[in-house]
Amino acid sequence: MKAVRIHAYGGPEQLRYEDIELGTPQPGEAFVKHKAIGVNFADLHNCQGRYPLPSLPHVLGGEAAGIVEAVGAGVTYVKVGDRVAYAAGGPKFAPGSYAQGRMFPAERLIPIPKEIDDITAAALFTKGLTAQYLIKSVYPIQAGETIVVHAAAGGVGLFIAQWAAHLGVRVIGVVSSEEKAEMAKANGCQHVLLSSEQDIPNRVRSLTGGQGVPVVFDSIGKDTFDVSLRCLRPRGLMVSYGSSSGRVPPFDIFTLNGLGSLSVTSAAFAWFVPNREELLMRAADVVDVVLRKAVKIHVCQQFALKDAALAHRAIESRKTLGSTVLIPE
Ligand SMILES: NC(=O)c1ccc[n+]([C@@H]2O[C@H](COP(=O)([O-])OP(=O)(O)OC[C@H]3O[C@@H](n4cnc5c(N)ncnc54)[C@H](OP(=O)(O)O)[C@@H]3O)[C@@H](O)[C@H]2O)c1
Repeated sequence: MKAVRIHAYGGPEQLRYEDIELGTPQPGEAFVKHKAIGVNFADLHNCQGRYPLPSLPHVLGGEAAGIVEAVGAGVTYVKVGDRVAYAAGGPKFAPGSYAQGRMFPAERLIPIPKEIDDITAAALFTKGLTAQYLIKSVYPIQAGETIVVHAAAGGVGLFIAQWAAHLGVRVIGVVSSEEKAEMAKANGCQHVLLSSEQDIPNRVRSLTGGQGVPVVFDSIGKDTFDVSLRCLRPRGLMVSYGSSSGRVPPFDIFTLNGLGSLSVTSAAFAWFVPNREELLMRAADVVDVVLRKAVKIHVCQQFALKDAALAHRAIESRKTLGSTVLIPE
């Protein structure tokens, strides 16, 4: 079986397309033959060692869609021939999707409805489940509110923006280029601000009658943390859910008091899908908005699996729009 592995932490130059041995499914596992593989920013963190892998060498990737080709003892959730997808996350589900197929715990496989094609399915669940738990559980957004979404033309950003707009929320998106601004505006953002050119907190205040917003969804981390706090209204919530520009450095908690008794949370996917019941409940919500066309999945970049390094380079250089998918040979 062909897979993309790293033998040492580093940049995209570490990715090697090589043969691996998989064996047979253990009790509770299914073998999924991949049709398409989703690329996520976390894969770059794994590659760099910022999210360490269990061991090296290791196959990268947390998400894919495909067909169950074999099951281990005791598997009842899926059967051979089922179309399924998965979104790995957290310490229990190690990366390993950049491959022609892989073993995965059957209880974490999500059935793919027939209306959703393989490429869409491979790009759907990590971003969709993240958007879902952020806007439904971390901060349940309400119609009529205004929110700020960073990286609004990216994978998760586009998902949040479209879903929030569908729920009657006014979305202020922040992006880094005119091309991304167009994309964000066409997909849920009523206002789009350019991070490089504008004083974001001032612009957000002028768009909200001087008030600020009740919540900011910030996936960028180091470069935007202070900006995000200054966009909030008193008692607002800063949702930090990523660190694309690097980790937020330590800060003085009293800053939150001075800016209006603000709250900050650092949210992660794994804590919101702890068991199959919650995984399928959230997945059903994601599938529902996609089937009702409230959210469109924009797979803007496709690469052959063997060219996964090109996908990493594109993401690293902030050139991508929407989602990125690898296609195994
Ligand atoms: N906590 C969770 O549960 C969870 C789950 C899924 C994803 N995430 C996180 O959410 C974020 C978005 O994931 P995604 O896969 O959808 O990626 P993405 O948003 O498609 O790509 C990352 C975006 O971040 C922005 N960015 C700002 N500074 C950057 C830098 N120094 N290098 C690269 N990009 C930079 C870029 O948008 P602009 O050019 O417009 O600024 C870029 O397009 C990532 O940080 C990811 O780790 C978290």
